[in-house]
Amino acid sequence: MLLGRIRTALRRARPVVAATALALAVGALAAAPPAVAAGSTLKAAAEADSRYFGTALTDSDLAVGGETAVARAQFDMLTPGNEMKWDTTEPSNGSYNFGPGDQLVQFAQANGMRVRGHNLVWQNQLPGWVSGLPQSQVRSAMEAHITTEATHYRGKVYAWDVINEPLNDDGSLVSDVFYQAVGSGYLADALRTAHAADPDAKLYINDYNIEGQNAKSNALYSIAQSLLAQGVPLGGIGFESHFVVGQVPTDMQANMQRFANLGLDVAVTELDDRARTPVSSGDLQQQATDYASVVRDCLAVSRCVGVSQWGVDDAHSWIPGTFPGYGAATMWDGNDQPKPSYTAALAALGGSGSGSTGSTSGALRAVGAGKCLDVPNGSTVAGTQVQVYGCWGGANQVWTRTSDGRLTVTDAGTTMCLDAYGQGTTAGTKVAVWPCNGQANQLWRLNGDGSVTGVQSGLCLDVTGASTADGALVQLWTCSGASNQKWTLG
Ligand code: XIL
Repeated sequence: MLLGRIRTALRRARPVVAATALALAVGALAAAPPAVAAGSTLKAAAEADSRYFGTALTDSDLAVGGETAVARAQFDMLTPGNEMKWDTTEPSNGSYNFGPGDQLVQFAQANGMRVRGHNLVWQNQLPGWVSGLPQSQVRSAMEAHITTEATHYRGKVYAWDVINEPLNDDGSLVSDVFYQAVGSGYLADALRTAHAADPDAKLYINDYNIEGQNAKSNALYSIAQSLLAQGVPLGGIGFESHFVVGQVPTDMQANMQRFANLGLDVAVTELDDRARTPVSSGDLQQQATDYASVVRDCLAVSRCVGVSQWGVDDAHSWIPGTFPGYGAATMWDGNDQPKPSYTAALAALGGSGSGSTGSTSGALRAVGAGKCLDVPNGSTVAGTQVQVYGCWGGANQVWTRTSDGRLTVTDAGTTMCLDAYGQGTTAGTKVAVWPCNGQANQLWRLNGDGSVTGVQSGLCLDVTGASTADGALVQLWTCSGASNQKWTLG
C-alpha cells in the first residue's frame, strides 16, 4: 500500500522532475550572452522603414572607444556636434577651417553613415567678428560663409540645417545680427545661397520648442508657408526635441504632419530626454515611454525621414553642462550600456529584423507546446496570468502587435495588453493581461529567432516548465533559445 503510493507519487513526480531538469538546462544555456539577432539595431530597424537613425558626435568623441563602438553599430546618420558651426569653420573673416568637420565626415563615410550638416547661420557659436561687422556688410559675410562652407561639403552632406533656432518662444524672430542687418529676408536669402552652392542637399530650418503646436511652431508654420509661396528652396523642418522626461507633447505627430502637408520633409534632429539627477527607475521607465512615442510619431508621418539623438551616451551628452542638475538624457548610460529607452525605441521601430511596423494580428503560437497563447476564459480581470491552450481561433487567442510594440487582445469588447506583472524583471515574473498603459513592461520585441523579449526586463516569454499541457502558465524567464520560448504570430 505504502509502496504503491510511493510509486504513484514517483510517476506523478516524473514530469515535474523532467521539467525541472529542463529549467536547469535552460538556466545553464542562459549563461551565454544572448545572440543579437541580425537587424536588431536602431539603424537596421529604421532602414527597414526607409528611415535613418542618427546621432551627433564631436571630434573629441572620436577618441572614445565605447562611444564610437555604439555609434558604428547603431546609427546611420551623423551630425557633427560643433565642428561645422561658424566659430569653428570661419573663426576670422575669410579664413576657413574645415579640418574638424572633415574628420567627422571621414568617420561617417568609413562607417556607412550619411551626414546632416549643422549649421550655417545661427546666433550662437558665432565668432565675434560677425557681430562686430557694420550692418551693411553682414549680408555679404553671411552669403560668403554659406557659399564657402556648403561648397566645401557639397556631395558629402545629405541635408543642411541652413538656419538654426531663428525663433523666440513667442513666435517672433530672434533679433540677432542677421535679423538686425537684413530683416526677416535673411531666411530666404540664406536658403537660396545654400541651394546655389549645393543643389542636392535638403535645406532645413531647425529649432527647439516647436515639437508641439504652440506660438513658436505656429509662427514657423507661417514662415514656411510664405517661403514656399515665394519659391524659396526650403526642404525640411528639424524638430530638435530636447525633452524633459514626461513632457513629450501629445500633439507632436499632428504638428509634424501639418508641416509635411506643406510638402516639406520633417526630422527629429537632436532628440534627448533629460531627468533630474540622480534619476529614479521611474524616470528611466518614463524615458522609455517618451523615446518610443517620439519614434512612433515619426513613423506615423510618411515624410518624417528619420530620428537623430543628440550624442550617444549619458557620459558625453551636453545636458549636464548646459542644464545643471539634469542628466541621463540618452539611450545609453555612462558605461555605454543600453537603457530601457533603447529597447523601447527599437521596439517602436518594429523590433529586431522584422522590419514591419504595421500591426499584425493572429494567434501567438507556442512552438514547443504546439498550443496558442490564451487568456483563461477570456478574462478581462487585470492581472490574469496568460496560459497556453489548444488553438481554437477564439478572441482570447487573437493577439495584435501594434506598431509601438504592444501585444493586445480584445475580449468582450475590452482591449488589454500583454504585461509583465508588477513591472517584474526577474525570471518567474508572471505574464498577464492588464489595461494598456503605454509603459515599458507592456512593450515586446519579436525577435528573428522566434523569441519574444520583454522590453523592460530583457527576459523571454516562456511556457513554464516547458509544459505542453493545456493551461500551462506563461512567465518571463532568462532567454535560452529553447523551444518553450519560441513563438510565431499570425
Ligand atoms: C550644443 C553642443 O552639443 C555643445 O557641445 C555646445 O557647447 C553647444 O551646442 N541646439 C543645437 C545644437 O542646435 O547645436 C546644440 O549643440 C544644442 C542645442
